[in-house]
Amino acid sequence: MERTLALIKPDAVERGLQGEIMAMIQTAGLRIIAMKMLHLSKAQAEAFYAVHQARPFFASLTTYMSSGPIVALCLEGENAIQRYRDLMGATNKDQAAEGTIRKKYALDIERNSCHGSDSPETAAVEIPFFFSALELVG
Ligand code: CMP
Repeated sequence: MERTLALIKPDAVERGLQGEIMAMIQTAGLRIIAMKMLHLSKAQAEAFYAVHQARPFFASLTTYMSSGPIVALCLEGENAIQRYRDLMGATNKDQAAEGTIRKKYALDIERNSCHGSDSPETAAVEIPFFFSALELVG
């Protein structure tokens, strides 16, 4: 059993897609064991994406991620990290497979509708960024 952190990003929440994306997650057999809606500050977005701070897109990414509400989810299931990454599709929507969240909903490489932890080590940092142990109800 594995846990992963999923974010529904501002571009998707703004379009009211959170329900459809959560339905895709549940249809894929992943359990939502924690959920909250919040609006990150610029500093919080910078802290969350600190691993990307040397990238040319860091400033734009963190401005975008603090531009409106997001939904944070903790997902649980066997091989949850890879299964959720498969469900999201490639970072760049032009390379995302049919039926994936990003193929359906992403607007461009930055406004790509969702985020998921990329490894168990990342999930172990990203889940507590948003949720306390008491908030994980699985
Ligand atoms: P995410 O999976 O949240 O990880 C980092 C985010 O940076 C990515 O999704 C995109 O929203 C954003 N991003 C913007 N430009 C790029 C790029 N050129 N390569 C990768 N990620 C990018």
